[in-house]
Amino acid sequence: MADIPMVAAHHVRLGSNSGQSMTRKDGLAKVTGKANYAADNRPEGLLHAVFAGASIARGRVTSLDTKAALAHPGVVHVMTPDNTSALSQDPDEKTTPFTARIDVLQHDDVRYAGQPIAVVVAETLEAAIEGARLIKAEYDEQPARIGFDDGEAFTPEAVGISTPPKFATGDLEDQRKQAASSVSVVVETPLQYHNAMEPHAVVAAWDGDKLTVDMPNQAIGLAKPSIANYFGIPAENVTLRSPYLGGGFGSKAVLFGPQMLGILAARELKRPVKLALKRDQMFGPVQHRSATRQTVRYDMDADNRLLAFEHRANVSTSSFDNWLDGAANAGLSLYATPAISVAHTGTRFDTGTPGAMRAPGIATGSAVIECAMDMAAEKAGMDPLEFRLLNYAEKDHSNGKPYSAKALRECYETAANAFGWKDRPLKPGQMRDENGMLTGWGMGTSIFHAPFFPAKARAVLRKDGSARAETSGADMGQGAWTALWQMAADGLGMAADDIDFDIGHSDLPDGSVAGGSAHTASAGGALFAAGNDVIRQLAEIATKDSDSPLFGAGNERLIGENGRLFKASDPNVGESYTAILERAGIDEIEGQGRGNRDKASTETYAMFSHGAVFAEVKVDPDLYQVRVSRLVGAFAAGRIINPRLAKSQLTGGMIWGMSFALHEEGVHDKRTGRPLNNDFAGYHIPVLADVPHVEALLVDEDDPHVNDLGVKGVGELGITGTVGAIANAIWHATGVRTGRYPIKIEDLLKGAEALKA
Ligand code: MOS
Repeated sequence: MADIPMVAAHHVRLGSNSGQSMTRKDGLAKVTGKANYAADNRPEGLLHAVFAGASIARGRVTSLDTKAALAHPGVVHVMTPDNTSALSQDPDEKTTPFTARIDVLQHDDVRYAGQPIAVVVAETLEAAIEGARLIKAEYDEQPARIGFDDGEAFTPEAVGISTPPKFATGDLEDQRKQAASSVSVVVETPLQYHNAMEPHAVVAAWDGDKLTVDMPNQAIGLAKPSIANYFGIPAENVTLRSPYLGGGFGSKAVLFGPQMLGILAARELKRPVKLALKRDQMFGPVQHRSATRQTVRYDMDADNRLLAFEHRANVSTSSFDNWLDGAANAGLSLYATPAISVAHTGTRFDTGTPGAMRAPGIATGSAVIECAMDMAAEKAGMDPLEFRLLNYAEKDHSNGKPYSAKALRECYETAANAFGWKDRPLKPGQMRDENGMLTGWGMGTSIFHAPFFPAKARAVLRKDGSARAETSGADMGQGAWTALWQMAADGLGMAADDIDFDIGHSDLPDGSVAGGSAHTASAGGALFAAGNDVIRQLAEIATKDSDSPLFGAGNERLIGENGRLFKASDPNVGESYTAILERAGIDEIEGQGRGNRDKASTETYAMFSHGAVFAEVKVDPDLYQVRVSRLVGAFAAGRIINPRLAKSQLTGGMIWGMSFALHEEGVHDKRTGRPLNNDFAGYHIPVLADVPHVEALLVDEDDPHVNDLGVKGVGELGITGTVGAIANAIWHATGVRTGRYPIKIEDLLKGAEALKA
């Protein structure tokens, strides 16, 4: 329902669409193959482009033989640095924190394996693939530096998206003098590659200096002007369509070389061009998660209260750009200590540049912090849950602002009860299941920022009672299409089935970034406001119309619901939207909306979603093969627009946490710098058989500060906490900590041997 006049700032009532577990509005189109993903587009005259990637990780291309490729039947053109025109913007220029330095055949340098060195364009995909294989390159090769002991170390100026690389509060040394005990741990996390189910793709078609691009993208509002800058055309000349994405996870929020090369090829050849990455090409030019080497130390007093927290993270980036995962900032909002010191160093690897990957910073940082917390609990002789209940933070230490700690406490209790955490033996190696498997229980705290972006939306109500709402937003598969639709319908005071809804197109108002777990709050808030704007205008017409039953009710609270506007004080007094428009002779009303986060709230409160995850693992006592038998999490993320989809997001996040703990690792050959496991046979991710029982519970939370609607995000929350919970459960089963992720059988065997010795 639309609640008019809008209640100032805090907490507007949403209508009946929100809160419902509606099924996916785009589901039928997807399962019947009717949903057109970018690479499904085949404009008339389409050419296919495939790039050849460098086979070295550092050095220079000294010669490029394209003759065989050019002679190959079907090949029409081979782009190389010799014949490719310059972009209008230097591809090494960073115009925004979301701009990556990209490789678009403007130089001979090779900065990572798989970097595009030539693009073969052909009449068919087959010919383009074959042509790319016929490209012969010679190199002046330098030794590749991949790994913290090989790469070049430096002191970063920022981590993540412009976040300070270090922070300190309190007196670390002074607190340590008072400490009764301490624990410290060193853990490494590997390079991880986003690997969305749908690889990056572009279909580009030029009409003069107008460009139409089909490309999966998480941030149409950023991509459109950015593409325009690269190609020297006005932003309004760019049409970007991205109705469906097969996953993004951060790597589709930024533009990279391959997509720009597809657009460039279309411009040079004056025909539409499609360039879709093959799976192995995802391991280089389109980001990954930084590798990290982290040290965490906690000091405690005699009452088991934390006194000091120190976190150092050495984080990988590329040789030519500066994205660094902010792992050591994760602890600033997790646990309470009087003294904190966190800092990052950077190490340059000869890989592509890393970027934001689902729960950047917090996923990696909390994976280590949670281990340190369980080690501290062990030292204290306390149950890990009790220890966390004694020590959890109630504020963001980086700015001193309080957050929703009550919700966090409820998450701990809800998840622990559902899991059956009671009576967990303190010592490791105490539990066996009926099959003799070593059984362990572990836990971790989940947390993720609740940012808010300035999204815009539009809504239209027509005389015939139909309505439409739209924003450029992005459904990455997470269900945004559905949740945003629900909020749009509530803004208009109509049933979701009675309105048209559209997203994923650059002609629509800028729905901002589908990232930072902020899309529902940001774009949804805008859609709700746009609908409200329509109903506010409608109310103005009705209350000034002497023939309306609402005449003169201008100062009263009116409610729009199911296409009818009525008095809140007397629902019998009102009339249909169509009656109001009909009488006024108005064909349609258009409303604009922006979401709102109260400025005073931002200055006063820290904003986070919270949760707690409990894991049970079974470990084979001889082979040390690990199975995660149960994952139970409870999460508080403000008002939940669609419980089914929110649970699906959280469940997906927890499965990713398990993937982080046990499976994922991008391995590069030390000699060549080339990725060794750049396919789904070698790059391990969990399959259904790995996930026997995953349960995400939603904790009711009324957060009046976070934005008008009290909506926070769930997309990245689930991965945080889960990684550490699994590592802790494995320790509880075996007594072994391996010091690196993913946790591998060989490391567990080694650890178990060491314990026996
Ligand atoms: Mo995300 S890593 O903000 O898509």
